[in-house]
Amino acid sequence: MTESHLSDLSDVTKPVSLARGLPNAHYIDEEVFKEERQSVLFDNWAGVGFAHDVPNEGDAMPVDFLGMPLLLVRDAEGNVNVYQNTCRHRGMILVKEKGNIRGTIRCPYHSWCYGLDGALRSTPHVGGPGQNIHEDIKRNELGLFEIRSHVYLGVVFVNVSGTADDFTVAHSELLERWKEFDKPLYHHEDGAFVLEVDSNWKLAVENYSESYHLPWVHPGLNTVSRLEDHYHLEEQYKYSGQGSVVYQQLKGEDGQTFPDFKDLTDKWDTASEYATLYPNVMFGVHRDHSYAIILEPVGVNKTREHVALYYASDEAVGDAYKKLRVTNADFWEEVFKEDIFVVEGMQKGRHGVFFDGGKFSPAMDGPTHIFHEWVATQINNGRAKMAAE
Ligand code: FES
Ligand SMILES: [Fe+2]
Repeated sequence: MTESHLSDLSDVTKPVSLARGLPNAHYIDEEVFKEERQSVLFDNWAGVGFAHDVPNEGDAMPVDFLGMPLLLVRDAEGNVNVYQNTCRHRGMILVKEKGNIRGTIRCPYHSWCYGLDGALRSTPHVGGPGQNIHEDIKRNELGLFEIRSHVYLGVVFVNVSGTADDFTVAHSELLERWKEFDKPLYHHEDGAFVLEVDSNWKLAVENYSESYHLPWVHPGLNTVSRLEDHYHLEEQYKYSGQGSVVYQQLKGEDGQTFPDFKDLTDKWDTASEYATLYPNVMFGVHRDHSYAIILEPVGVNKTREHVALYYASDEAVGDAYKKLRVTNADFWEEVFKEDIFVVEGMQKGRHGVFFDGGKFSPAMDGPTHIFHEWVATQINNGRAKMAAE
């Protein structure tokens, strides 16, 4: 990173009434994108996939996370493990496509094989033809590189750098706030879709953080849950978003509704909440379903939104609820699509050289501002680390 790319972030971390947003370079500049890759996405807990992407023992899914090759694997105990998808021998990519690897992860180059636990199990001909061992090849030292991971509300989070606090410590506040939803979740493939957006991933978070745009961008939603029904979620340095005191369950033609999560407190009879767990996972929780949106930063100005809906019981993902589930998925897809033009419009707006990060409304943009403040703080931490090295 050259000196000229080191943006001045001192205005971003000021109190909301004095602050500006992140400079344009944080949305359009490849060098800054690389800087954020490390200090914002790799140094924290980022979402890279869904646990239901690898439902059965031996299921594996490769993920290219900003160029870092990862492999999600379901092990024999039912846990999801994440490894670097690189063979310890000559660095070949191990798994190219999603599928079941039937017990071992076999490198297609010289056939070294790894267990679902990442341990190096066999090394054919490594000591010469017919010799499957060699004294210099210490299998116990050559397991796959494991990446720290944690599953929360269906999402597989990773901390690539290995330096973040444990997930449950780093995110104790949201875990506490939403502990009533931290239960087994049920997913059906009809509750999944992907949206492509021509914008930097942060603009999706910023738009998701506020309800201010509701009357103009989501007129339909606004008739059910109005702007004045919303409240802010602001946990500095952790998460932000908004909630609504009005949530009406979706009803089928015959009055059918989805079953509720068990043992919810009264608040959730009518409330729903929407928050981004920094950096890149946007959640929504309601009495009868939740969803997660993983923002995959494909490039500085390109983002893929992976959306998955979850229900409270096995019954809700059965045939009897098919129609209602499809209606629900269509509803959310429509809402999220309504946001695309503003997110893409803000991306275009950031090529305007006189834009100065903008002005936050202290009344309406608090949750957006604390996201900017958090990003700026991560970048400053990364720069401090670089300077100390
Ligand atoms: S590179 Fe994987 S076995 Fe040689
Ligand atoms: Fe929106």
